[in-house]
Amino acid sequence: MTIVSTAEKRPTRTWEWVRVCAVADLEPERGRAALIDGVQLALFLLHGPDDGGPIFAVSNLDPYSGANVISRGIVGTRADAPTVASPMYKQVFDLRTGACLDTLGKDERSLETWPVAVRAGDVFVRWAARS
Ligand code: FES
Repeated sequence: MTIVSTAEKRPTRTWEWVRVCAVADLEPERGRAALIDGVQLALFLLHGPDDGGPIFAVSNLDPYSGANVISRGIVGTRADAPTVASPMYKQVFDLRTGACLDTLGKDERSLETWPVAVRAGDVFVRWAARS
């Protein structure tokens, strides 16, 4: 399925739902790295009702260390925010928005995030085609 965004007029961006893996490939509270168009993503399946909890897709690239390590981060919470802490310098990011909740004294940097959908047991990420 291809969705063409009409919200953004210039430049025209083509969005599509890209299948990444099966939900069964994910382990609750453990990140998994995925590769789309040469871009590394980190997928997180959280605990939820019936353990089919929400799934988040964020950049695997840690903006503080420049290393692709976010999928190895530690999952947690801050207030009501589901979070991941970078395994490098321990900055904490909101998995929903990618915002850094604890910069540990550094400048503000965030993770890129992508919408996730689950259909028939498969995980899809809403991806902007590069043209
Ligand atoms: S994240 Fe690479 S060794 Fe820990």
